[in-house]
Amino acid sequence: MGKTSKATKATGKLGILMPGMGAVATTVIAGVYAVNKKIAEPIGSLSQIGRMRIGQRTTNNKPFIHDVVSLAKLKDVVFGGWDIFEDNMYESAMNAAVLEESLLKKLKPQLEAIKPMKAVFDKNYVKKLDGKNVKKGKNKMDLAKAVMKDIENFKKENGCDRLVMVWCGSTEIYIQEGPVHQTIETLEKGMVENHPDIPPSMIYAYAAIKMGVPYANGAPNLSCDIPALVELSKITKTPIAGKDFKTGQTLMKTILAPGLKARALGIEGWFSTNILGNRDGEVLDDPDNFKTKEVSKLGVLEQILEPELYPELYKDLYHKVRINYYPPRGDNKEGWDNIDIRGWLNYPMQIKIDFLCRDSILAAPIVLDLAIFLDLAQRAGMFGIQEWLSFYLKSPQAPKGLHPIHDIFKQLNKFENTLRHIAGEELITNLGLDYDQNK
Ligand SMILES: NC(=O)c1ccc[n+]([C@@H]2O[C@H](COP(=O)([O-])OP(=O)(O)OC[C@H]3O[C@@H](n4cnc5c(N)ncnc54)[C@H](O)[C@@H]3O)[C@@H](O)[C@H]2O)c1
Repeated sequence: MGKTSKATKATGKLGILMPGMGAVATTVIAGVYAVNKKIAEPIGSLSQIGRMRIGQRTTNNKPFIHDVVSLAKLKDVVFGGWDIFEDNMYESAMNAAVLEESLLKKLKPQLEAIKPMKAVFDKNYVKKLDGKNVKKGKNKMDLAKAVMKDIENFKKENGCDRLVMVWCGSTEIYIQEGPVHQTIETLEKGMVENHPDIPPSMIYAYAAIKMGVPYANGAPNLSCDIPALVELSKITKTPIAGKDFKTGQTLMKTILAPGLKARALGIEGWFSTNILGNRDGEVLDDPDNFKTKEVSKLGVLEQILEPELYPELYKDLYHKVRINYYPPRGDNKEGWDNIDIRGWLNYPMQIKIDFLCRDSILAAPIVLDLAIFLDLAQRAGMFGIQEWLSFYLKSPQAPKGLHPIHDIFKQLNKFENTLRHIAGEELITNLGLDYDQNK
């Protein structure tokens, strides 16, 4: 750990709270328990197994990230959350059918001990779901206060030092930023008046940020991505991040597109289609919920390829994204991409990708890392939008007027340099001044 680290040390327990305790949340929780028992490996999590270069290239120093900055240890993490279903984490994980029964059985007592708190829920925002484990309140502000009470109780009962919240709930219907979202005053008034543009995910986000609990949004709905909550996060000095975990197809897109662009290859069309059969797929089968996802997925290519600067390569780009609910596959999504590219003298070529992925297996380490790094950000005195965590997100939240960065390699650079900055280490600029070949 650098002597001049800007972050205080991670001591005591970190509580990770998740609104939405379905496939992703249970895969994170069971995964952390399995890693703690040393019966599984935390593959995909940079906070656990990632390394980064420190200092000049010539020194060849690539320590673990968790040795560069002080991160909460997995044995100090406790979990909690909310869901509209009463199932404990063992039942929910069995229902999600992501992890093998034999693994879940080994973790059964720990998983059974976590039961979801009553959710803030309204069927108007997730049309395909209905559950009984739901809070009642006379208005949305009352519901936010009930969530704050839950947070306070959880912290006390579990002896937590610090908390973070990561939205792992279903994707809500598409809502655009409107007048009610502009200031803390309009938002609070809207909550008292039950304004329809304030969905449950925004109520949880308000409660967390108001209490100074770092908040990340793993779904594409707005949640904390509105001016009022960005303003609140600055007042309460709370780090926030969103939106939408970058997992399967979009992960591939943000790996491949920067490479094609780097070699000045043209792209004429990119058609992406998926089949998935989990509850997320069922929710996304509704056109209003799919619209939220579609907007999140479509922004990526345009920003990476910059057709306005490279019209000869990308002006005709046709980008289409489809998701189809197909129950037999469960959580094991299959994503196909057909990419029509152009090379020297405009000769056409094609690339086909068939990604047989596992949705929650890809999302779980992202939830864990977002929680661990948001906690670090708070201990380093950082607040507001944490753009350096865009690395994990499909539709990264950016300050007003700025484009989000989608290129995964630029995101990784920013991520690593931010960690170096927190650790009080030299930033890496790749200027090549560390080694003079003429010497
Ligand atoms: N798995 C991935 O690869 C991936 C990638 C990006 C985003 N996401 C998003 O992550 C979220 C979770 O995905 P999942 O596969 O775990 O879905 P899931 O359907 O298994 O779990 C979501 C849970 O949220 C609960 N829920 C819905 N509204 C709620 C509310 N208001 N309060 C509390 N609980 C609520 C549901 O009852 C359900 O149990 C989804 O929004 C999904 O779009 C997942």
